[in-house]
Amino acid sequence: MKKAICPGSFDPVTSGHLDIIERAALIFDSVLVAVLHNPSKSCWLSAGRRVELLRKAVAHLPNVSVDSSEKLLADYAKEQGAVVVVKGLRAISDFEHEFQMALINRKLNPSLDTVFLTSGEHFQYLSSSMIREIGSMGGDISGFVPPVILPDLLECIHQTT
Ligand code: PNS
Repeated sequence: MKKAICPGSFDPVTSGHLDIIERAALIFDSVLVAVLHNPSKSCWLSAGRRVELLRKAVAHLPNVSVDSSEKLLADYAKEQGAVVVVKGLRAISDFEHEFQMALINRKLNPSLDTVFLTSGEHFQYLSSSMIREIGSMGGDISGFVPPVILPDLLECIHQTT
């Protein structure tokens, strides 16, 4: 039974994230999507809200669960019995930082490997920060997020602008 973990800030989850999660769910027996703390980002949505949106977005995937943690990824993965980290790579520019994190995580937890999936070609340019910016300035974000979370996201944008 191979359990994978898909970590991220997911602020908010994008169609690109969902593409990676769906593909990971085809490869691994179970996938835990983990909303973790990124100290270099100050998040727009609360961790609880990000988990709620993710749970809606992955409701059609029976082997995927969603949770959040304040722990280090290496420790949380061990606690949850995950042996593989799955990350999406959009472009070469993502690579250096992701490579560094993969090496550090394996140093901290030698049984934890990282697998990179290349982002779908339609999602190479997508990022949560772009969606936040477009949404907060009244732009149309419907092509960038899972349709099932669009109403909730528009409500979040409405509440915070
Ligand atoms: O979506 P992001 O912000 O690029 O995801 C980064 C995230 C949350 C996966 C990363 O910051 C992380 O793993 N945070 C948990 C704390 C941790 O383990 N830090 C050491 C990383 S080498």
